[in-house]
Amino acid sequence: MKIVLGGDHAAADFLPVIAKCLTDRGHELLELTAPAAERCDYPKVAEQAAREVASGRCDAGVLICGTGIGVSIAANKVRGIRAATCCDTYMARMAKEHNNANIICVGARVVADPGIALSIVEAWLDAEVQGGRHAERVGMIEEIERREH
Ligand code: RB5
Repeated sequence: MKIVLGGDHAAADFLPVIAKCLTDRGHELLELTAPAAERCDYPKVAEQAAREVASGRCDAGVLICGTGIGVSIAANKVRGIRAATCCDTYMARMAKEHNNANIICVGARVVADPGIALSIVEAWLDAEVQGGRHAERVGMIEEIERREH
């Protein structure tokens, strides 16, 4: 898969760990990473990543900020994006299986450890989208989006 990876200054220690894992797993990466320790506004990186996924130029996205909240709110403003903030591996698996999340968001200051963030991202990558009632509900989300735009 081609995966876009981005984050703000709060993610500086986390992004290299995630990037190495994703490339080791054979994914192609588009990194939207500010130079370490440089202040970076999360809405900008989140919008850029979301547009890469919504356009199909990237298959999926990983976004990290302090809480994982700001990047998900911003990314979800882009049509076609289902960005989910996940604090543990269960949420990450459900975000893929039930919600077909195409971007995962993690809070660096919440999980506090790059290894934990990595396990969350891996759980999401390894999970499979489920069909049936879950796909129908994702369709209902898309219907809300169609009514909104
Ligand atoms: C940056 O200090 C912080 O506000 C940001 O990383 C994020 O947590 C926003 O939701």
